[in-house]
Amino acid sequence: MSGRIPREFIDEILHRVDIVDLIDSHVPLKKAGNSFKARCPFHTEKSPSFSVNRNKQYYHCFGCGVGGNAISFLMAFNHLDFVEAIEDLAGFVGIDVPREALSSPGKKRDFSALYAILERVAVFYAEQLRHHPQGVKAVEYLKSRGLSGEIAKQFCLGYAPDDWDMLSSRFDMQLLVDAGLVVNKGNGRRYDRFRGRLIFPIRDKRNRIVGFGGRVLDDSLPKYLNSPETEVFLKGKELYGLFELLEKQSRPKRIVIVEGYMDVLALAQFNMHYSVAALGTATSKMHLELLFRFTSELVFCFDGDVAGQNAAWKAVQEAFPCLKDGRQVKVMILPQGQDPDSLVRSEGVDAFEQRLQDSQVLSSYFIEAVSRGLNLATIEGRAQLISQARPHIEKMPAGFFREMMVDRLKELSEGAILDVLDATTARQAAQKSEMVTSSLIKPEWVVLALLIQNPEMSEVIEEMGLDWDKLSFATKKGLLGILAVIDRYRPKNTGSLLEIYREDAKKLEWLTGFANMQVIPPNNDDFDQEAAFVGAFKRVVELAEKQYFDELMARKLRS
Ligand code: UTP
Ligand code: MN
Repeated sequence: MSGRIPREFIDEILHRVDIVDLIDSHVPLKKAGNSFKARCPFHTEKSPSFSVNRNKQYYHCFGCGVGGNAISFLMAFNHLDFVEAIEDLAGFVGIDVPREALSSPGKKRDFSALYAILERVAVFYAEQLRHHPQGVKAVEYLKSRGLSGEIAKQFCLGYAPDDWDMLSSRFDMQLLVDAGLVVNKGNGRRYDRFRGRLIFPIRDKRNRIVGFGGRVLDDSLPKYLNSPETEVFLKGKELYGLFELLEKQSRPKRIVIVEGYMDVLALAQFNMHYSVAALGTATSKMHLELLFRFTSELVFCFDGDVAGQNAAWKAVQEAFPCLKDGRQVKVMILPQGQDPDSLVRSEGVDAFEQRLQDSQVLSSYFIEAVSRGLNLATIEGRAQLISQARPHIEKMPAGFFREMMVDRLKELSEGAILDVLDATTARQAAQKSEMVTSSLIKPEWVVLALLIQNPEMSEVIEEMGLDWDKLSFATKKGLLGILAVIDRYRPKNTGSLLEIYREDAKKLEWLTGFANMQVIPPNNDDFDQEAAFVGAFKRVVELAEKQYFDELMARKLRS
């Protein structure tokens, strides 16, 4: 997405903003040595290990390992995407984002008129609920479903009178069509999409109305109608109830994903403001990533019937790639024929919350699902288990969850056949822990760390005028890559350097590891970093020359 915003503009913003001021306006900072400290806003802790460095324009938490520049901070702290963070930062430093920067070239579209009509129609429907003669029926219906006026207000519920041109006689026709509110049948036949229905406005996380759902007040079909996808409404991205949930609680302990509008409302009615519903579509990876911005625990809530079971398995598969350490997914299967709405009404809040507590963790749900119907007492059964599990395991990112699953499968399959999976996991784990825990940091790591923490040190290397072809060492390619990037973009600090890698998640993770690596004594302002850098680099060169020479000799001896 950043491709659309010119690099120069991003540089300009990063140059103007001071990360210390920015973070201090969200999380009060205290000066400590040559940096600033606070208790980390991204995890719970008693003593401050969150540190912000003005020279590097970079923040880092020694406790939970997060780190990044001003843009990353706003994205993480305010749950924004990249473009949103740029917009807010531009506001913070008082400059305008060039308009064309926010839309792709050739498709310069401004959606403000679309958002405006959706908002006006939502207000209109809400008024009809209270004032239109037919509104009484809808209010009666809400009451019969046990929903209060307060909930109706919070969710901005409305009523679309049973008429073909309630909207078209009042609002701009083209905008209504673009917003999906009027159906265009061609040759002049146009009519309101929602007629005689209770209306559920769907808001995005920034409180913009993006679409509507509508329910009949009786048994007629279809029971629900939803807005079609439009330029501002992508069903795979939006979740019903998310805005309302965040309004109550910006960092809920968990979020429960239910199936229907009515379920979200019923739970809210019982003061459980932590559920959202996918909009008549399956839950997507995008939905899950969005939700994980706000919470670390997601609970899928599904019907106990076959369709529900299938939906649960599908949702769980979407969740595998999102399973980073610290994230938890649980599965709650409801009794046959019940949904959260009916269940909370029949059993009460405590019993419902108890069910949530008792819901199955993803690991056991997964193992149960892949071993269902298999006889693990036989070799065939165990082999089948592995072949069924493997494709899913491969989708899981390296980390605690994956290792746990591999261990569990190894137990169940009695150690057989799993070596391939095992090997990748082990390698990834080794790389990770070595980076963090090694007390004897290799000189090439010191070089990378100090270079990333002080990009201007590239000049020291440039001045040496080395013959790179005659050097051989493990991190040479990575180092040359960074040097080329520094040479090309001249980033002034760590924050700007890492920004260049934003689109390349793998490299960014690798670089962030070095940005966070503590290679100089903490709280020592006088430490000569450049001398340390030169020393480490000379050591790398020495060893690299030797290795190059050894490799050359070995080749000579072989030929
Ligand atoms: P349900 O049929 O479970 O409805 O559909 P519900 O939410 O429990 O509603 P009540 O209790 O009968 O009033 C679950 C969700 O599936 C979508 C809607 O998003 C609904 O909330 N759906 C259902 C449709 O989009 N169209 C339909 O015709 C039915
Ligand atoms: Mn229901």
